[in-house]
Amino acid sequence: MVNDPTRIITLQSHILAEQAQFPESTGTLSWILSALSISAKIIADKVRRARLENVLGPAGAENVQGEAQQKLDVLANEVLLASLGRREGVAMVASEENEEPVILRDEADGARRYAVLFDPLDGSSNLDVCGAVGTIFSILPHEAGVPARASLLQRGAAQVAAGYVLYGSSTVFVLTLGRGVDLFVLDPSVGAFILVERGLRIPAGNRSYSVNEGNRLSFPEGYRRYLDWAQREGYSSRYTGAMVADVHRILLKGGVFLYPPTAKAHHGKLRLMYEANPIAFLIEQAGGRALAGPTERLLEIAPTGIHQRTPVIVGAADQVDAVVAHLDES
Ligand code: AHG
Ligand code: MN
Ligand code: MN
Repeated sequence: MVNDPTRIITLQSHILAEQAQFPESTGTLSWILSALSISAKIIADKVRRARLENVLGPAGAENVQGEAQQKLDVLANEVLLASLGRREGVAMVASEENEEPVILRDEADGARRYAVLFDPLDGSSNLDVCGAVGTIFSILPHEAGVPARASLLQRGAAQVAAGYVLYGSSTVFVLTLGRGVDLFVLDPSVGAFILVERGLRIPAGNRSYSVNEGNRLSFPEGYRRYLDWAQREGYSSRYTGAMVADVHRILLKGGVFLYPPTAKAHHGKLRLMYEANPIAFLIEQAGGRALAGPTERLLEIAPTGIHQRTPVIVGAADQVDAVVAHLDES
């Protein structure tokens, strides 16, 4: 498909074609996605040039999570805030890097708008070593008149779109609008994301797990039992330190990603609203399973805070089931 220039589908034309299927659509969501696509190109460029422009390393501040901000965390956050801020359809944004959500427009003019939640740079500690990093986003509907807090704190199942950008050996944009998962790759010579795979399905049968095994001694018993079992079964381990990169591998090849509760992080480390929920939406749309525990579906968690954390078990259905089988015994 991508080799035939007459049949190239860009992210932009894909979104417009999707929108055309809903005659009542106003194009608002398409404009928001276009802001995300432009932001992704700008951030990709900054990531590529980071060493040359001396924007690697800590920014000298901590974010609301008490984690050291990298200069590029701050830059990527500014890019997203600026480009989303100019879109009429964005009522409010919430970011990993901002303690409070930013309410942009909340006029009671009856217009349907959206809340956009994001992790501007995921895995940012990988930057110094030229490792893969990403951007994750989640889009929730906001009805005029509904309090901002209520619109932001909806269950993941209410998402109308979610996706991530992976700044790896190429820049990829993975998107769901709730009708499957599509994969685009940035063609730097054209400056556009090009559709390379439609309707991604996570393959079954990949015997690999992705977890920070350095925390193993403080995992709950069931997770340790699973790891013992997986190792006896000859499973492989793959872990990059950037959830986006690990999840991308799983979407394409199968396997499971875990971030269990630990002694340091009793509820896990990952953030529900802008890490776990969007990834869970993508994973489910690609035929996988996304849980917070043996029986708790991530997308059904009723959130209580923008920055709340959750344990995460996401991946191919067969591999998530193998984890759950061990948790059930505890
Ligand atoms: P962020 O850089 O946005 O803070 O996210 C890092 C996250 C996630 O991407 C990754 O899977 C995990 O933290 C790694 O944590 P550990 O270093 O504890 O394994
Ligand atoms: Mn992150
Ligand atoms: Mn981040």
